Amino acid sequence: MDTKIIRMDEENIDMQTVKMAGNIIKSGGLVAFPTETVYGLGGDALNSSSSKKIYAAKGRPSDNPLIIHIVEMSALSQIVRKIPKAAYQLAEKYWPGPLTMIFEKADCVPLETTGGLNTVAVRMPSNQIAREFIREAGGYVAAPSANRSGRPSPTVAKYVIEDLFGRIDMIIDGGQADIGLESTIIDLTGTSPMILRPGYITEEMLRQVIGDVEADQTIMDDHAAQAPKAPGMKYKHYAPKGNLIIVEGEGRQVSTYINEKLSAFHKEGKRTGVIATDETAAGYLADSVKSAGEQGREEQTAKCLFRILREFDDEGIEIIYAEGFKQKGVGQAVMNRLLKAAGHQVVRLSGENSSM
Ligand code: TXA
Ligand code: MG
Repeated sequence: MDTKIIRMDEENIDMQTVKMAGNIIKSGGLVAFPTETVYGLGGDALNSSSSKKIYAAKGRPSDNPLIIHIVEMSALSQIVRKIPKAAYQLAEKYWPGPLTMIFEKADCVPLETTGGLNTVAVRMPSNQIAREFIREAGGYVAAPSANRSGRPSPTVAKYVIEDLFGRIDMIIDGGQADIGLESTIIDLTGTSPMILRPGYITEEMLRQVIGDVEADQTIMDDHAAQAPKAPGMKYKHYAPKGNLIIVEGEGRQVSTYINEKLSAFHKEGKRTGVIATDETAAGYLADSVKSAGEQGREEQTAKCLFRILREFDDEGIEIIYAEGFKQKGVGQAVMNRLLKAAGHQVVRLSGENSSM
C-alpha cells in the first residue's frame, strides 16, 4: 500500500489535507495522526471492518479493545448507554485532554471496536490537528497507539513511519507529542471509579474532582493475583530489543553498581546503555548514556522515555540499565511503563535484591 506522509503544524492547520484524511476514514481507510499523548492509528470506530484493519496493521490481538476519540460531548451520548455524574465532572475538568473513560457501550459500537466487550473506552484529545481530523472523519475515530504491537508508543512521526509505512493510507506528521505517555484510563462502569492505566492525569487529580478512586492492583505489581482490567495491559509492552534492568537505591550506590555491571558486560563485548538524569549522566561508562531530564521533573521523563527506548534499538544496544524514578505525580505513569518495558526486572540496592 502507498502511504502518504504529510507534515502539518498544529498552529497552521491545512484544512484541505485534513479533509482528505477525514475522507480516508469515512471510506474505511486508516490514518495515523498526532495527539497530545502519543500518535494514534485511526479508523472509523463505527465500522467493524475498519477496526479489523487496525488490528491487522498493528499486528495486535483482536481481544484488545480500542479507544474511541471524539470532539463533542454530544458524540458521547451516541456511543454509550449512560453517562454517570462522575463522567460529566471529569469531562468538565479534564476534557479535552489525556483522560480516557470507560462506559457501557451503545448498540451502534461494533464489538470489533471493543474487542468483544460490552464496555467502550472514550477520549476527547486536545491536540488541534487531532480535533480537526476527528471532526472531518465523522466524529468517531477508533485509535490505538500507532506502533506495531509490543513496541513503545510513537511520540514522533519517524517511529510511526518505521512501524506502519506501507500498511496504512496516510500518516500526519505533527511533530513531537507534548506529553509522551498514553492517556490515563479510568473505568466508570463498576461500583467505584477505578484507574486501569496511570497517565498524566494523576490519581490525585482525579480524586480532587470525584472523591475516592481505586487503582487496579496490577498497575505496578507484576505479582498481583488477578489479570489487569484493561486487556491491553497484560501484553508484553514497550519492550526495547535489549535487556532492560531498573536499579533503585541512593544516588552514588546506583551509579557504582551499574558501572560495575557495565564493565563486566564490556568484557563480554556487549553494547551497553544507561537511562540516567541530567545530574547523573556524566557518571556512567556505557556505550550510550541518555538523560531522561532533570531529577524530580517526571514530566520531562514522560516526554522522552519512549523515544529513548527506541533509540537504544537503533543503536544496537544489548544491555540497558535504568535509574528508578520517583513515583510522585506523573512519575507513577513513568514507572508503570518502565517496569513493563523491563519485564519487571528491578534491583533494589538498599533493601534485598529482587531481580525477577
Ligand atoms: O493516549 C492514548 O490513550 C493513546 C492515544 C492515541 O489516544 N491511545 C492508546 O490506545 O494508548 P491503546 O490502544 O494503545 O491503549 C488502549 C488501552 C489498552 O490497554 C486497552 O486494553 C484499554 O485501553 N481499553 C480499551 N477499551 C477498554 C475497555 N472497554 N475496558 C478496559 N480497557 C480498555
Ligand atoms: Mg498502545
